[in-house]
Amino acid sequence: MNVLDSVPRTALAVTHEPAAPPRPVVELDGVVKTYGEKTANPVYALRNVSLSVLPGEFVAVMGHSGSGKSTLLNLLGCLDRPTAGAYRLDGADVAKLSRRQLAHVRARKLGFVFQSFHLLPRLTARANVELPMQYLGGVGRRERRRRAEEALARVGLAEKFERRPTELSGGQQQRVAIARALVNRPSLLLADEPTGNLDTRTGLELLALLQELNAAGATVVMVTHEADVAACAGRAIHLADGRVTRDARNGAPADAKRALTELPPDNTETPEHSA
Ligand SMILES: Nc1ncnc2c1ncn2[C@@H]1O[C@H](COP(=O)(O)OP(=O)(O)OP(=O)(O)O)[C@@H](O)[C@H]1O
Ligand SMILES: [Mg+2]
Repeated sequence: MNVLDSVPRTALAVTHEPAAPPRPVVELDGVVKTYGEKTANPVYALRNVSLSVLPGEFVAVMGHSGSGKSTLLNLLGCLDRPTAGAYRLDGADVAKLSRRQLAHVRARKLGFVFQSFHLLPRLTARANVELPMQYLGGVGRRERRRRAEEALARVGLAEKFERRPTELSGGQQQRVAIARALVNRPSLLLADEPTGNLDTRTGLELLALLQELNAAGATVVMVTHEADVAACAGRAIHLADGRVTRDARNGAPADAKRALTELPPDNTETPEHSA
């Protein structure tokens, strides 16, 4: 029950208290992740990481190879558990959840986008986007189809419902992956190098889409190596050797849509690496 339900309306109407700060989507408290702790050479992938992410933020996670970015994203995505420390997702302590509950939380609250898209090759775009709803259950066939088509239209693929991944460009495949990630309306969208396999123009188009979805309320945490990509986010967290070394707001994120208009027109036709 909403706690405010028991408060008389008139009492609410006359109070002018500042609104309570929104509850973080993500709260990490002293999170440690080690691999092979029982071996002679344990790896400390994350050391004492504490941070929170508020609803509506667009956060870039940066750092050199091996700094712990994917480890952090996997923990946020409940694909792995911390060795020590606490992770609360939408206020719920993830360590207290059973495996089944965790799987449910993943399906219900989280959306994933990966560098290599991870679409099922034999399924159409629409069937790929329907999968998270099938997994979660409780949505009938026609409604699944309707929601999948709506999500695909939202990422600019209204004409491509029936295409299989091999019949789509890399950028279009990544859009299908984003539609799939968003279709259950997750609290948090997690993206690991989402533009890593895309050329400059397609990468910018993808970033423009993420910025648009973020402006519409999506909370996004995106791992990237590239400063240009991170510049599109409203906040950048830098990792080095498993520690947060910098966590700064970016008051003036780069506008990916504008950057697109400034690209030379023939950019897509130019191979990045000519033989
Ligand atoms: N399953 C694992 N078993 C053992 N060590 C691991 C495992 N996964 C990651 N590591 C180690 O943990 C550290 C952090 O790895 P992580 O994959 O998080 O880095 P990253 O920042 O994502 O790097 P990249 O930019 O190359 O993707 C590295 O030293 C890595 O070798
Ligand atoms: Mg990685």
